[in-house]
This record gives sequence, C-alpha cells and structure tokens, in this order.
Amino acid sequence: MSFPTRLQTAAGQVAGRLDAALATLPPSAVREAMGYALRGGKGLRGYLVLESAALHGVARDHALTAAAAIEAMHAYSLVHDDLPAMDDDDLRRGQPTVHLAWDEATAILAGDALQALAFELVCLPGQPNGAQMALTLARAAGAAGMVLGQALDIAAETAAQPLTLEEITALQAGKTGALFEWACTAGPRMAGADPAPLARYAAAMGLAFQIADDILDTEGDASTAGKRLRKDAEAGKATFVSLLGLDAARERAETLIDTACAALEPYGDGAQSLRDAARFVISRDR
Ligand code: IPE
Ligand code: IPE
Ligand code: MG
Ligand code: MG
Ligand code: MG
Repeated sequence: MSFPTRLQTAAGQVAGRLDAALATLPPSAVREAMGYALRGGKGLRGYLVLESAALHGVARDHALTAAAAIEAMHAYSLVHDDLPAMDDDDLRRGQPTVHLAWDEATAILAGDALQALAFELVCLPGQPNGAQMALTLARAAGAAGMVLGQALDIAAETAAQPLTLEEITALQAGKTGALFEWACTAGPRMAGADPAPLARYAAAMGLAFQIADDILDTEGDASTAGKRLRKDAEAGKATFVSLLGLDAARERAETLIDTACAALEPYGDGAQSLRDAARFVISRDR
C-alpha cells in the first residue's frame, strides 16, 4: 500500500474516533462547526501518534484516542488562525473557513471546545499515562509552544527588520514543531518509554515540514496558501524560501529528512512507516 493510501486509511479511523467523541456532545451549532473543522485534513499528526504508538506496543484503541486528540488540537489552532483578527482567511482545506460558514463567535467557541476535547481525550479513564499526556500536550500547545510560535508569527508582520533564519527556525519550532513533537513522542510517553529518539526525529521532520510548506506556498496561486504568501510578502515577512532561495531550501529539507531518519536507527526496520512519513512530508503536494 502506498504511503498516501495508508495515511488516508489512518485518517479515516481517527475521524471515526472523533465522530464518536462528538456524538457524546449535545447538538449545537458549535458541535456542527467542530465536526466541519475536523474534516478534510491530511491527518499527519494523528498518523504519527498511531505509528509511534504501534512502535511501542500501545493498544490500538488508546492510540486512536490520542491521535484524535492531536487532530482536535490542530483543528482548533487552524480555526483560530483563520479568524479575521489573525490571518483573516476565507478558505481552509478548500472550503469556507468556520467564521464564514457560521460566524466569528461560533468559530471562537468551536476552537475553544476542540481544544477542551483534546485534553478530555488524552486523559479519559483508561487512557495510558493520562496526566503525563495532558501535561505535555498543555506545554506543546501553550505559550511556550504553538501559541508562542503564533504570537511570534503575528509580531513578525510588524517587525522593523525581516526575521533571521535563526529567528524563523525558533518561531516554527513553536508554531508547527511543538504539536508534531507531541504527536511523535505520544507512543513512548503512553508506554512509559524514552521519548528522546522520536523527539529528535520530530524536530528535524517538523522543520522540513515547514520548509516544504513555504515551498508549496511559492508554487500555490489561487489557493489560500498562495494568498498567505502574498500577504507575507506584503508584510515583508521572511520565510525559509525568501532567506535561502528555492534550491537551498529544498536541499535543507532533504538534509533534515536524512537527520530525521537517522534518529530512527534505534528502532531498526520497525520504524519504516515513520521513515516513509518523513519522506512524504517533503514530497507532498498539499
Ligand atoms: C497546516 O498544517 C498548518 C501548518 C501548521 C503549516 P497541515 O498541512 O498538516 O494541515 P492539514 O491538517 O493537512 O489541513
Ligand atoms: C498555521 O500557520 C499554524 C497554526 C495554526 C499553528 P499558517 O498560518 O502559516 O498556516 P496556513 O497557511 O494558515 O495553513
Ligand atoms: Mg498564521
Ligand atoms: Mg494561516
Ligand atoms: Mg499551509
């Protein structure tokens, strides 16, 4: 089975777990908006949870619940990222953004509730190491992780000087890196094993993901990605591509994937699906 097919299959299973979680909530516009925001993504973070869990012998049901949690957290971050006060985007995953399909209040509340759902899922009774999973998820999502990266990204729009490569690397480590790291280390954390090798894998892979995102943005036109790049350029915001140039950015991403795969050596052949995921990150077309 090709990697995109495996990814799609896993995403479908995680979506099933999320549907089951939403079905326990009372019907409301917020619940509808949550379901809408959870649809149509690649499901990469959830896949990383499932594979890192499989590598550590975590039960499939527990892994699916943790995978659903990170996809809920990610969906919340996107709903809020698209709001008029942030990126003011009209389209997400090819569909109208939540604040346009409903309204801003519903989008804010749906994001809030998706974040709450993520924490609920990781420490449901019976989930392994629930307190540790919630603690690490809070750190990854909060003002030392994703939220910090988002704040730096917003600040970059009005900075006097474009950010340096070092500053962009730090910004991205929070903005996209922190949730990737949580996803990749979820398996060992649930199993009570050492998360260090997968944290190294995640750091390199997350950065390569962002470089690939910047490259895709330069290739996009009518998409939201294209719109964002135009906005970034207008704001004089530096990206990996603007600082390194397209060819060097591609080379950097390749090197990072080699680094990510090297971090998987302790796991031997068992980690092949994580090697495939790393390659996919820089070869994807969306
Ligand atoms: C998009 O992430 C937002 C960033 C963190 C750059 P993905 O490319 O993983 O988004 P979906 O979930 O597949 O739509
Ligand atoms: C979104 O980053 C990252 C998070 C929501 C944490 P961007 O604003 O750069 O990504 P897109 O272009 O909206 O997907
Ligand atoms: Mg943004
Ligand atoms: Mg955005
Ligand atoms: Mg993007």
